[in-house]
Amino acid sequence: MQTLGIDIGGSGIKGAVVDTETGEIVEERFRIPTPQPSLPEDVAIVLKEIVNHFDWHGPVGVTFPAIIKNGVAYSAANVDPSWIGTDAAMLFQRHTGCPGCPMLVINDADAAGIAEMTFGAGRGRSGVVIILTLGTGIGSAIFVNGHLLPNSELGHLEIRGKDAEDRASDRIRQEKDLSWKKWAERVDEALRKIEFLFSPDLFIIGGGVSKKHERFLPLLNTQAPVIPAEFLNDAGIVGAALAASWMANPHE
Ligand code: BGC
Repeated sequence: MQTLGIDIGGSGIKGAVVDTETGEIVEERFRIPTPQPSLPEDVAIVLKEIVNHFDWHGPVGVTFPAIIKNGVAYSAANVDPSWIGTDAAMLFQRHTGCPGCPMLVINDADAAGIAEMTFGAGRGRSGVVIILTLGTGIGSAIFVNGHLLPNSELGHLEIRGKDAEDRASDRIRQEKDLSWKKWAERVDEALRKIEFLFSPDLFIIGGGVSKKHERFLPLLNTQAPVIPAEFLNDAGIVGAALAASWMANPHE
């Protein structure tokens, strides 16, 4: 079965058709820059363009970088504050005007986690697995025996008086021009705090910077193993598509 996955990020909105049996992207992805400011109506117009580009009539999974419950956004750390309280699923549904397109909106890190647990680095892993995406912010997804605890928001855990993501995201590494060693110390501090709170069996590190995992993963000192994600930039698209296909076909 195929499902359309769309990843809404701070700089780009990307879509691709995903084979939900294999997790592979079957058609070339399509990207449109995120409107600035990223107002809900403007983002919804881009979403419609992506759905039209693929001439799509089927389930659509969409990631969003915020707390999402039943399609509604409840936070807006790195997006326009007007998203708070917006029913994103309903807004996108209305704009795409596609009655046969059930729309599922989920947190971006939760989507990435679903992709990793189903087809990537966390495949077949039981116990407590925590996926962290290091990018503009820090996203998190917690799985217990393969089941997701949604909207965990560990990037906002307070460390030295600041949100973890304002100390240890990849954005901070770049903005402050931190060496890999200095940045790894900050990531390590965040991971060890998370480890103390949740005693995970495995950490999976995603986000674009996970491509360079040899530079910082060996410098970490957690008890649980820390491994890189396998899906790099496509994790959100794949995970959102999977979640939408499960919603549309709950018995498969
Ligand atoms: C947001 C999360 C999101 C993460 C990664 C954080 O600032 O609060 O919802 O998953 O950034 O984009």
